[in-house]
Amino acid sequence: MKLNLKIWRQKDNESKGNFEKYLIDDITPEMSFLEMLDILNEKLINENIDPISFDHDCREGICGSCSLFINGRAHGPDKGITTCQLHMRKFKDGDSIIIEPFRAKSFPIIKDLVVDRSAFDRIQHTGGYISINTSGNTQDANTIPIRKEDADNAFDAATCIGCGACVATCKNASAMLYVSAKVSQFSYLPQGKVEAKERVLNMVKQMDEEGFGNCTNTGACEVECPKGISIKNIARMNREFYKAKI
Ligand code: FES
Repeated sequence: MKLNLKIWRQKDNESKGNFEKYLIDDITPEMSFLEMLDILNEKLINENIDPISFDHDCREGICGSCSLFINGRAHGPDKGITTCQLHMRKFKDGDSIIIEPFRAKSFPIIKDLVVDRSAFDRIQHTGGYISINTSGNTQDANTIPIRKEDADNAFDAATCIGCGACVATCKNASAMLYVSAKVSQFSYLPQGKVEAKERVLNMVKQMDEEGFGNCTNTGACEVECPKGISIKNIARMNREFYKAKI
């Protein structure tokens, strides 16, 4: 396959970025999108051109670091997958592909396609944990009765990998889907009830301090989330937040 790539290049956060055009061939449909970028980078290195910086780690859809905006969509044209799981068979010979970083004020660009998503870590640090007294007679977690529906909902919320597709897709750059998944994964379970109030208040406060936008219920986040996190979590978080405030 021959492809026309238009890729965002930006030296650092202070510099002004721009799109650069690259023509690449010898790409096969079985290659992953990141392998295609690897091949382009090898070519650039051989030509003494600075390779394109992009994030990746597991390349298995687990870590959430491979966050690219491809032809106007977070993680590209396929549904329910991350960029590393996208394959070139989704494109046709001669296609033009526009590749950009996830864009949001709270995700400043570090270089080219790499953005700083540590805002998510700071939100997580304010409440994404449970405290358990492990001295003495701690009850075995497996002996705590939990309704099947609650266990399933908690597990579904916990599948959020924090990639930031929700923020990049939302016209308000809202992080409500991410934060609500992190709040819900604990609040469905008895272990998470102890700190439930402080958790939701602290995480929402940190989310606002990080500069993420408000949710206006467009639902775009749910559509583009590679893990299918439901916006029902947002309604649930709002209810918890107001209860905790009162
Ligand atoms: S590299 Fe880990 S999810 Fe893509």
